[in-house]
Amino acid sequence: MNRSSGVRNLLSAGLSKLRSHPDSIPVTGSREATVIAVSAQKGGVGKTTTVVNLACALASSAEMRVLVIDIDSQGHVASSLRDSLRPGRVSLSEILLEDRRDVMDAVVDTAIENLHMTNPDKSLAETESQLSSRVGREYILKSAIANARSHFDVILIDCPPNLGNLTLNALVAADMVLIPCDMSILAFEGVADLLATVQTVNLRLGQRLDIMGILSTRVDGRTRQINDVIGDALNDNYGDLMLDTQIPINSAIAKAQAAGLSIFQFQNRSRGAQAYRALASEVVSRLNISIQPRAAL
Ligand SMILES: Nc1ncnc2c1ncn2[C@@H]1O[C@H](COP(=O)(O)OP(=O)(O)OP(=O)(O)O)[C@@H](O)[C@H]1O
Ligand SMILES: [Mg+2]
Repeated sequence: MNRSSGVRNLLSAGLSKLRSHPDSIPVTGSREATVIAVSAQKGGVGKTTTVVNLACALASSAEMRVLVIDIDSQGHVASSLRDSLRPGRVSLSEILLEDRRDVMDAVVDTAIENLHMTNPDKSLAETESQLSSRVGREYILKSAIANARSHFDVILIDCPPNLGNLTLNALVAADMVLIPCDMSILAFEGVADLLATVQTVNLRLGQRLDIMGILSTRVDGRTRQINDVIGDALNDNYGDLMLDTQIPINSAIAKAQAAGLSIFQFQNRSRGAQAYRALASEVVSRLNISIQPRAAL
């Protein structure tokens, strides 16, 4: 075998290897997503509920393609929408830990038009500790979603209830953070910690993460005194950052989640559905996106 045919063979072997890995050539889309991390340090404040129902409300708007990335090992996004999930094969852990760095490989369709999500991934808890030893660990998700940004209008990231490596990855990857806060003192204290983390991300990691707003969740008309104390504290401390929309405590929301349905699929006229529709409108106006409602939710 002479030298030039050797080079030709090497080239064609390399090309056929490329062809046998269709994922290795990412297809770029024409959209430009805004990435919103939904994060709070305290557990159970309504992060997943907000991600799922906000995503469904946004996806029902004309031309808006929505992706939900679930970086919480609990995999609650998939359980909340299990009626609509169409599972796939690649996990987010594989994306974060291996050289396969395009989140699009882990994206699956749902039965809800325009709504896509990543596979639920129970091994993310282990992945979180493995990330600790990686150089540039805070930026892995950011680079992995670069291509996905061109395929969606909004990407929502559901974060775990802590400020560890995965949440840090979400904050670095995001343009904005939405902070659900229920009417408890622990959730209120958690807001200050998260805001301090956002400041650190911006100052030390050179990001430009904006606060979309603080969302009052699980607001209970029956415990007016507690609501008022926490509500006043939130307004006094974070006035401009508070979203106008408040999510009331509503049993239909919990029942919908238990049934694996969005609040709109479960009880479209409930107070919970009305509140999440209002949140979607407020988010859209804050994003400055102009959309036409496709169908009444
Ligand atoms: N507005 C609401 N009214 C009634 N129940 C609610 C409401 N919001 C959330 N819940 C219920 O509260 C529980 C916690 O909600 P959710 O899973 O959204 O919280 P989370 O912040 O994502 O929790 P975690 O920190 O564990 O991820 C769920 O059972 C959910 O159905
Ligand atoms: Mg959750």
